[in-house]
Amino acid sequence: MNRFLSTLPVLLSLLNLVSAAQKSVTLDIVNAPIAPDGFMRIYCIRLSASCSFPGPVITAQKGDSLSVQVNNKLTDGSMRLSTSIDFDGLNFDTDNVYNEGSPFVTTCPFGPNTSYTYGAPGNQTGSYWYHSSLSLQYADGLRGALVIYDPEDPQKDLYDVDDESTIWTVADWWHNTSTVGLISYNLTQIIPFLTGLAVASSKGRGRYNGGPAVPYAVQNVTKGTRYRFRLINISARTFFTVSIDNRESFFLYIIEADGLPTQPHEVNVLDIMPGQRYSIVVTADQPADNYWINTILHGGNAAFNLNLNSTLGRGILRYEGAPDQEPTTPMTLGPQGAAANALVESDLRPLFPTPAPEPDYNLTFVTNMPVNKTIWTINDIQYIPPNVPTLIQVLDGASNDSDFGLNENTFVFPRNKVIQITFPPDPDNELHPFTLHGQNFWLVKSNSSGLINTENPIRRNVAAAGSNGTILRFTTDQPGPWFSSQRLPHL
Ligand SMILES: *[C@@H]1O[C@H](CO)[C@@H](O)[C@H](O)[C@H]1NC(C)=O
Ligand SMILES: *[C@@H]1O[C@H](CO)[C@@H](O)[C@H](O)[C@H]1NC(C)=O
Ligand SMILES: *[C@@H]1O[C@H](CO)[C@@H](O)[C@H](O)[C@H]1NC(C)=O
Ligand SMILES: *[C@@H]1O[C@H](CO)[C@@H](O)[C@H](O)[C@H]1NC(C)=O
Ligand SMILES: *[C@@H]1O[C@H](CO)[C@@H](O)[C@H](O)[C@H]1NC(C)=O
Ligand SMILES: *[C@@H]1O[C@H](CO)[C@@H](O)[C@H](O)[C@H]1NC(C)=O
Ligand SMILES: *[C@@H]1O[C@H](CO)[C@@H](O)[C@H](O)[C@H]1NC(C)=O
Ligand SMILES: *[C@@H]1O[C@H](CO)[C@@H](O)[C@H](O)[C@H]1NC(C)=O
Ligand SMILES: *[C@@H]1O[C@H](CO)[C@@H](O)[C@H](O)[C@H]1NC(C)=O
Ligand SMILES: *[C@@H]1O[C@H](CO)[C@@H](O)[C@H](O)[C@H]1NC(C)=O
Ligand SMILES: *[C@@H]1O[C@H](CO)[C@@H](O)[C@H](O)[C@H]1NC(C)=O
Repeated sequence: MNRFLSTLPVLLSLLNLVSAAQKSVTLDIVNAPIAPDGFMRIYCIRLSASCSFPGPVITAQKGDSLSVQVNNKLTDGSMRLSTSIDFDGLNFDTDNVYNEGSPFVTTCPFGPNTSYTYGAPGNQTGSYWYHSSLSLQYADGLRGALVIYDPEDPQKDLYDVDDESTIWTVADWWHNTSTVGLISYNLTQIIPFLTGLAVASSKGRGRYNGGPAVPYAVQNVTKGTRYRFRLINISARTFFTVSIDNRESFFLYIIEADGLPTQPHEVNVLDIMPGQRYSIVVTADQPADNYWINTILHGGNAAFNLNLNSTLGRGILRYEGAPDQEPTTPMTLGPQGAAANALVESDLRPLFPTPAPEPDYNLTFVTNMPVNKTIWTINDIQYIPPNVPTLIQVLDGASNDSDFGLNENTFVFPRNKVIQITFPPDPDNELHPFTLHGQNFWLVKSNSSGLINTENPIRRNVAAAGSNGTILRFTTDQPGPWFSSQRLPHL
């Protein structure tokens, strides 16, 4: 584990497993050169099936149980040779908690020349992603989209096309290996440079300052057709502001957040945090032409990192019949000021609302990074990664809070209780996307507003813990050891 992460709960008990039809996928993880932004990175990890970044899209139908065989063929010792794959947002039962992939908490990483087959029950639907969760290995390229389609989607009347060509991933890309980046961060506390890769279903595309003019990613559309784009942020740390030109009045309906359907909600620009997913419905009703898809990166100081330049990572929405060229309109940051109808996360409503139950336990997370970058606390106790992995302690019989070191922030909760996590308002607490593994939470208070909504909040598994304060609740109905993680803020 590393300082980008902080652990949380351990939930123990028993449950039965249901089974269904099987969808099998094989991923070979190899070292190979790759240049998604024109910079040839000799030492990167790729999933050999497609020789691209991101890795191949994994798809399944509702009810399929997923079986993903991962063959670790890594050979380059300048990066991590072991690996462990995490399927963010998929929920796992007790029988296979360890398939969730959080190393040292739910599973062990596995070494080169070995394989591991992950299984997920597959009764969820929606947009997800998979990635290495061993240290920062995912920044080296081990990340991809995962979509489980619902043939009986209750919102299918809202769109005509929803397939692999309409999966949009946004990502950051790093020219140095994560190993070099971590060492340098450790010495300087400065996060290394990244470049932005935009909108691409199977091929990451982007440019870096001073680099070649790599063609922008293209999304083809046909006039009159309604598209469900699945927008997935597979960044290591960057968040993006997304919009499409010529959509000042409206452009899209959000109908899904992190795998769960939402009531259609109209906006023309939205922020997407690392790890978050939204489905957006866009009708191709403009004159047939080329339009900019604006994917504006945020993730550091643009004066310092010249790759944080919105001209470098963006996409093109191309109508059938439009010329094979870039839009002739200027590149903008998307709708601004009065023209912006930006997503306010707290305005989203679930399609199938469930009230957030009252909490049985409260946890308070504080991440005072600018004061002392090394101090993150839960209930006033500083987190310090354990020397003995949480999982080993569990296997050795640890079953009570007091069995773990105080500073490990490992909490053992009884089954079917409600936990509330509060990130108090704090001007220093700016932008840590928070991920809860193994379960969705009710977003009782979004950072986006002061509203506390226990009646019909959305449920998701990634939310910004920002300066305005965030409150979430979850029930301990997925027994097992689970990990929670937070990213560094944007310094
Ligand atoms: C993996 O297998 C290859 C081929 O047999 C061998 O060259 C390599 O040393 C092995 N790697 C490890 C870490 O054992
Ligand atoms: C999937 O199945 C598990 C039990 O195996 C259950 O707890 C969970 O609620 C189910 N999820 C959905 C979305 O049906
Ligand atoms: C960071 O530096 C400390 C000593 O200053 C060292 O113990 C630790 O191993 C370093 N971590 C990495 C990832 O380089
Ligand atoms: C890569 O790391 C080296 C050594 O820390 C550093 O000098 C260089 O600026 C880094 N390059 C990038 C693109 O971050
Ligand atoms: C878009 O359509 C053109 C013309 O049919 C085709 O050549 C191109 O491969 C398509 N691009 C994508 C990303 O599907
Ligand atoms: C952004 O990149 C473009 C294209 O490389 C360049 O013309 C422009 O000067 C850059 N802007 C900044 C602020 O660096
Ligand atoms: C948790 O905190 C809320 C206020 O935020 C309070 O109403 C509730 O009583 C607390 N519950 C417990 C179990 O401490
Ligand atoms: C920050 O916290 C670390 C760990 O507790 C401590 O060693 C260090 O002295 C603190 N630094 C400052 C400037 O307070
Ligand atoms: C955990 O330990 C505390 C005392 O440290 C004790 O009161 C409690 O009953 C224990 N709980 C379990 C589940 O063993
Ligand atoms: C949070 O946002 C709401 C409005 O969106 C505002 O009224 C409130 O003052 C904000 N709170 C903080 C601590 O910034
Ligand atoms: C959180 O809310 C504050 C206050 O409204 C705002 O300044 C900040 O940008 C928000 N953070 C995120 C990550 O949205």
